[in-house]
Amino acid sequence: MKKISIAIDGPAGAGKSTIAKIIAKKLNIEYIDTGAMYRAVTLKILRDNIDINDKEQLLNMLNNIEIKFVNNRIYLDGLDVSEEIRMPHVGKYVSQVAAIKEVREKLVLLQRNIAKNSSVIMDGRDIGTNVLKDADVKIFLIASVEERAKRRYKELKQKGIEVSYEDILREIEKRDFIDSTREVNPLKKAEDAIIVDSSNKTIDEVVEEILNIISFKI
Ligand code: C5P
Repeated sequence: MKKISIAIDGPAGAGKSTIAKIIAKKLNIEYIDTGAMYRAVTLKILRDNIDINDKEQLLNMLNNIEIKFVNNRIYLDGLDVSEEIRMPHVGKYVSQVAAIKEVREKLVLLQRNIAKNSSVIMDGRDIGTNVLKDADVKIFLIASVEERAKRRYKELKQKGIEVSYEDILREIEKRDFIDSTREVNPLKKAEDAIIVDSSNKTIDEVVEEILNIISFKI
């Protein structure tokens, strides 16, 4: 099979990672969760008490950080942080960290390197517009903010994390605002991306819709 790349962008909680994981399995290609990478950097900043306004400290951290994916788990400096990066305290700061130019430069480089040698499906905010501008297929996955908040609320509840629906809704709205108005590579639909609306659709329905688009495009 020829090397393929699929970009899935969209706002928080639209279902990108759930859908991308299933498609990666079906097509036997690699799944890269770029949001997890921004979350890992945020966790490191919080853990090490790094002052993000101190450029020297920030660059030093970025030069030494190690982020790796192994079997769909994310490792930060050798430790599996797949669960911890989903915690509300990371979610609260991640968009601020992701708006920093130096952080984006570092992670975009890593993301392109991963995609260089293998077929991938990558999800995030700037994949179709920046990271993989030449992706074979670009999807912009959306859903109403209420539905996205409902899904995130259910997900966290199931993991036993105490949160209120209103807090989640506010956090998602705030994140979307920062992500789509930041200066460097904001969340935006690529001109050649196809919009898929996951509101009121089952996971299977969305997967099927996207697989149809993929089979048409490649
Ligand atoms: O995908 P997820 O919601 O886990 O992403 C967390 C945050 O990481 C986003 O709200 C956004 O601020 C940032 N992000 C980004 N660019 C990407 C992926 C995620 O700025 N490609």
